[in-house]
Amino acid sequence: MANDKLWGGRFCAQTSELTDDFNSSVRFDKRLYAQDIEGSMAHVKMLEKQGIISGDDSKAIQDGLNEILCEIENGKFVFNTSLEDIHMNIENRLIELTGEAGKKLHSARSRNDQVALDTKMYTRLEITNIKKLLFELLEVILNKAKENTDTIMPGFTHLQKAQPVTFAHHISAYFEMFKRDISRFDDAYNRLNTCPLGACALAGTTYNIDRNYTSGLLKFDLPAQNTIDAVSDRDFVIETISCISFVMMHLSRFCEEIILWCSKEYSFIELDDSYSTGSSIMPQKKNPDIAELVRGKCGRVFGDLTGIFTVMKALPLAYNKDMQEDKELLFDAIDTVKMCLETFMKMFESAKINKDVMYKSAQSGFLNATDAADYLVKKGLAFRDTHKIAGEIVFYCIQNNKNIEDLTMDEFKKFSPLFEDDIYEAVDLKNCVEKRTTTGGPSKKSMQRAIEAYENYILEYKKEQK
Ligand code: ARG
Repeated sequence: MANDKLWGGRFCAQTSELTDDFNSSVRFDKRLYAQDIEGSMAHVKMLEKQGIISGDDSKAIQDGLNEILCEIENGKFVFNTSLEDIHMNIENRLIELTGEAGKKLHSARSRNDQVALDTKMYTRLEITNIKKLLFELLEVILNKAKENTDTIMPGFTHLQKAQPVTFAHHISAYFEMFKRDISRFDDAYNRLNTCPLGACALAGTTYNIDRNYTSGLLKFDLPAQNTIDAVSDRDFVIETISCISFVMMHLSRFCEEIILWCSKEYSFIELDDSYSTGSSIMPQKKNPDIAELVRGKCGRVFGDLTGIFTVMKALPLAYNKDMQEDKELLFDAIDTVKMCLETFMKMFESAKINKDVMYKSAQSGFLNATDAADYLVKKGLAFRDTHKIAGEIVFYCIQNNKNIEDLTMDEFKKFSPLFEDDIYEAVDLKNCVEKRTTTGGPSKKSMQRAIEAYENYILEYKKEQK
């Protein structure tokens, strides 16, 4: 034969080695082997059920596929670049093992629906794995929150001290972010869960196949409803990398704060030695490399997202080889986020929280200025007027190097005759936090409600897993 490829019939010459190398994806898509075999199993069962192949052929193919699975998992399978991708490597081996029967597997199938199927099944699996890690992270955050409902710290806007909150309250904001990320993954999963198998190259087939049957066997909600879309859709890759990008963005914000917090200037937390690194020249250094790397890896994941968007932009229907570029981007984003989540949660879990330093920091910077203004509102003034008075008090305090709570009654009275002894209680840091009983606010009461809801949320997930 002039060209010994599985598709070599219409060729007069072999492909050049350069073409084989350039075209081949097996070095990275071999990680789809389990999905490829599972998909082929479902396909062959359907072919048998529909009388397209005999029971004997079906059995020979299924035995052959099982043998190939063992060979791959035991490291005995020889991957061949000139066989291009995982699909043809497996099919070629099947034919070696089963002869005539193996040649029948690809009836009513194309690599186009096959690769879309494999990638979807792999994505489903990895969404589940990433979700598991996200729930583990939520548990770490929740435990830290529970230990720190009394840990008063400054809340910031513009990176300037703003109002007092607690560490539990602050990190619960991250709980909310990662919780939203989980729901984004759920949405992506539900949307991707249609089965491309049976779309074949793009136009379905004249065989009497049963797409509902394969879809059900492979645990999809239903067959993809348009055969052209089934093989040309990579929205699910984009959506998954997009969900991953959200996680990375949230992790990078958390990391940025941790990097600040463990600087000498803040000293709000101390990272455990086991999750820090030193400097090759400066003996005193203890660097937050992990947090910085997670922050940095955000860049590569956004790159993966931009990459796949750009590959898909303006691609005509249906399948184009450009789409082979989806996999390395998808795999990179998945590997990166999993590695980041695993390392980040251990780093955060083992970090020491310097409660006293946080409290001390909250004592300077006039975090109770809003409370002084609110005090006068309760005495009958309009907030815009009390804001001005409290601003004048802050200015006076800066000039005289005092905190608001250090002012004497006489000093307070100079700004407004409405000030009375209970102002001291109103601007006391602990009271400033405890009185913020707003739903979702920092007071212990509000936080306990939130913590209870978070516990139930995690519990529901664990029940689902059983
Ligand atoms: N390796 C290919 C990919 O990843 C599989 C599909 C090939 N289809 C084709 N018509 N050449 O996209």
